[in-house]
Amino acid sequence: MTDLHTNYLGLPLRSPLVASAGPYTGDLDRLAELQEAGAAAVVLPSLFEEQIEHETNEIDRLFHQHQESFGEAMSFLPELDDYNTGVDTYLALVEAAKQRVDIPVIASLNGTNIGGWIKYARLLEDAGADAIELNLYEIAADPAMSSAALEGEQHELVALVVEETRLPVAVKLSPFYTTLASFVVGLQEAGARGVVMFNRFYLPDLDLETLDVMPRIALSTPEEVRLPLRWAGIIRPHVTMSIACSTGVHSGDDVAKLILAGADVTMTTSALLRNGPGHLATIEEGLRDWMSEHEYESVAQMRGAVAIDAVADPEAYERANYIGNLAAYTSRFLDTHPIGLRKG
Ligand SMILES: Cc1cc2nc3c(=O)[nH]c(=O)nc-3n(C[C@H](O)[C@H](O)[C@H](O)COP(=O)(O)O)c2cc1C
Repeated sequence: MTDLHTNYLGLPLRSPLVASAGPYTGDLDRLAELQEAGAAAVVLPSLFEEQIEHETNEIDRLFHQHQESFGEAMSFLPELDDYNTGVDTYLALVEAAKQRVDIPVIASLNGTNIGGWIKYARLLEDAGADAIELNLYEIAADPAMSSAALEGEQHELVALVVEETRLPVAVKLSPFYTTLASFVVGLQEAGARGVVMFNRFYLPDLDLETLDVMPRIALSTPEEVRLPLRWAGIIRPHVTMSIACSTGVHSGDDVAKLILAGADVTMTTSALLRNGPGHLATIEEGLRDWMSEHEYESVAQMRGAVAIDAVADPEAYERANYIGNLAAYTSRFLDTHPIGLRKG
């Protein structure tokens, strides 16, 4: 029997298959189904900085309004009990999830500015979360902000969140950093116990009739797994913290590749939304099949076996033999598309 055990952020897990933040992990029945299908841990959908700040502002506003009318602020406070806030709902989800499933429950905080919301890391801890994923989902769109300044701020933010809680903190990144390897090493120095590579940005589209800019969610394809694959392979030798890979994990083969490159766990959302929570069992079966066929007894034995420092041609992870690949593609294309058949 193949041994799938792994460790993520100091948490021992039965396998490397984790359900990443998404609609299913925000629903208690789905969480139970994910556990049943073999999820080793789940990451809840993110609680957003904007939700917290809005709510804090709203509470301040109500507080001041009543302070003026009644003069006695404290007399108003009991009324806040009925005020069902976004944060309260989220904390209730963390508590309920912990009661519903036995696997580790990772709460997710989304924030990019240093602010009062950071203290909510403590509330997630009190609600029973086993770890915190800090989701740095930010588009660097301000031309006055240099990459060094932005990355420095983000390292500082991570250090502040780490200081706020005793829980292990993982940081979920977009792939769009100028110097990703150096940034990830900095996350470890700031106290992060793990990195999640990567979040997937939802790209806008233009409606050519109305000229409206519309956000559109598109699920990932298995092809996309090559992005986290490259970075797991490159980063593995440089950090001791956990590496989670997210984006494009649809099959057991995808999981096998990422672990060989150096991931401790792999995370899945799109494939579950497409095929249902039970798809995790299919992914696990695929991983076990691959391992038996290739005589690997354990995930521990596989982990990092093909990271950049373990392969004969490290260049393959970096430029991926850019010129050679382009030349081979072009000659294959010309062979299979004779002049008469080519369009344009
Ligand atoms: C509908 C939807 C909602 C998501 N919500 C969150 C979220 O709240 N927080 C987060 O960190 N990632 C969120 N994600 C991103 C996923 O967790 C995951 O990182 C991303 O989809 C790439 O993995 P995949 O290829 O398995 O889908 C969401 C993804 C989808 C499709």
